[in-house]
Amino acid sequence: MQTNVRYVHALGPAALTRFYDPAIRLLFREEAFRSQLVANLELAPGQRVLDVGCGTGTLAVLAQQRCPGVEVHAVDGDAEVLALARAKAARVGAGVRFERAMAWALPYPDGTFDRVVSSLMFHHLAADDKRRTAEEILRVLRPGGALLLADFGSPRSAPGRAAVRALRWFDRIAHRHDDALARRFDDNLADRLPEVLTGAGFRDVAEIDRIGTAIMPIATVRGHKRADAPQA
Ligand SMILES: C[S@@+](CC[C@H](N)C(=O)[O-])C[C@H]1O[C@@H](n2cnc3c(N)ncnc32)[C@H](O)[C@@H]1O
Repeated sequence: MQTNVRYVHALGPAALTRFYDPAIRLLFREEAFRSQLVANLELAPGQRVLDVGCGTGTLAVLAQQRCPGVEVHAVDGDAEVLALARAKAARVGAGVRFERAMAWALPYPDGTFDRVVSSLMFHHLAADDKRRTAEEILRVLRPGGALLLADFGSPRSAPGRAAVRALRWFDRIAHRHDDALARRFDDNLADRLPEVLTGAGFRDVAEIDRIGTAIMPIATVRGHKRADAPQA
């Protein structure tokens, strides 16, 4: 892991990464959320799809299993979580191509992917990193291609708001030397991810799905790269 960049691991402290899968299963209605997200990708054989911030690889593996004719690529910045993802894919024989990369420096030529998906990753990024990651995703999408961004939205229940207060308190302590990182949830909690995508150059940006979970809702925002965008 590079030490000169802002980075938040899957569950915050790196030592908790091995508990990521059970935690997500318990807290976030994982099957329903991932199944719906893969359906919303509207995959078709022959397409190339990229999962950015793939974590333990559950979504990338599911996409490959649901649509075997699709070429699935997945990146994450953390070598430890990628090792878990590679082992998971190998266990079920899913041919996902994993790479280690930062979300704002994707190792692919312009226009490579028909679809890009990113789930539960954007809230790990400070505001300016969200912006440059969205721009980088736009670069690797083909003209007319789509990004599906699934991440936390504003909670509407009292327990949800209490959970958010606790999370923000934790972040203020954990990132007390980096105000931008301590405020990484702000865009999510104000439901501003559509604006982030529009600001980066995406077209027809809209929230297409929202599911409630034990803590915060997960909203899926879709945006497109202009069909007449120049190809490199
Ligand atoms: C909460 S996990 C989500 C994992 C997976 N997408 C999922 O749906 O379960 C966030 C992931 O984003 C990765 N991540 C955080 N910041 C990143 C960055 N700047 N570039 C690449 N990956 C990043 C973390 O290592 C972690 O695996």
